Amino acid sequence: MRGLKGKRVAVVGAASGIGAATARRLAEEAATVVVADINAAGAAAVAGTIAAAGGDAVGHPCDIADEASVRRLMHFIGERYGGLDGLHINAADMQALQSDTDALDVSLEIFDRTLAVNLRGHLLCTRHALPLLLRQGGGAIVYTSSGAADFGEPTRVSYAVSKSGLHALMRHVASRWGKDGVRANAIAPGLVITEQLREHFPESLRQATLAVTRSPRLGTSEDIAAMVAMLMSDDGAWVTGQVIGVDGGAMLR
Ligand SMILES: NC(=O)c1ccc[n+]([C@@H]2O[C@H](COP(=O)([O-])OP(=O)(O)OC[C@H]3O[C@@H](n4cnc5c(N)ncnc54)[C@H](O)[C@@H]3O)[C@@H](O)[C@H]2O)c1
Repeated sequence: MRGLKGKRVAVVGAASGIGAATARRLAEEAATVVVADINAAGAAAVAGTIAAAGGDAVGHPCDIADEASVRRLMHFIGERYGGLDGLHINAADMQALQSDTDALDVSLEIFDRTLAVNLRGHLLCTRHALPLLLRQGGGAIVYTSSGAADFGEPTRVSYAVSKSGLHALMRHVASRWGKDGVRANAIAPGLVITEQLREHFPESLRQATLAVTRSPRLGTSEDIAAMVAMLMSDDGAWVTGQVIGVDGGAMLR
């Protein structure tokens, strides 16, 4: 990919799964990577693995539901690197997802927590990263959404609302700061069996998802990481304001 070498990028929600794969991929593309996560030990471990493989990465704790924590992360990036070229906001509260049912049943605690991380947290990351991007003439923000934003599922109401809201946030950012060189896009992954999901994901659901996916296989974290890298690279220079499905053709638009 063109133009990632030496770019200063951060992946928030990068201790595992899609975020960790993205941090690894960006480092393979010779970017300088900040690996941020509420799981500080996990973030440090991913950064350590990257560094051991010859990449340039550092771990940093960040709880995106906590504005002070987000501010500290962006302050750290500004102090250490003098700016930021790309931000992948990937974190979501996947624990809350397990109790996320329907509009009649879901607890307001689960609804509020889901929005606090998956949507408000993304706004906080956007708000505190933008000054770093703007002062150098722009950069790329990539949000991780989900096919759930558009599927219209009978369950996971909080998750779908949060991801749908992300599309509006992304379009707002692309429109408000596009002329300042900021690009914003969202990736909507299909089912990706991460190491976290591998153990307890029901086989029947895996097969049902595969049956409605045009690709002969389900996704990997690396499939999503590749699209993030493209969007952050110079190859993605004219892509902004888009929700991009990376889902093996689970949903046709
Ligand atoms: N795996 C899939 O099938 C799939 C499908 C569609 C969308 N997604 C989306 O992809 C993203 C990554 O999911 P994943 O499957 O890799 O899950 P994951 O649990 O491996 O990754 C989520 C990461 O976010 C971190 N996180 C959680 N709360 C946080 C907070 N408050 N502040 C900072 N970090 C926090 C977690 O510690 C974890 O490292 C999520 O946004 C998810 O909604 C996943």
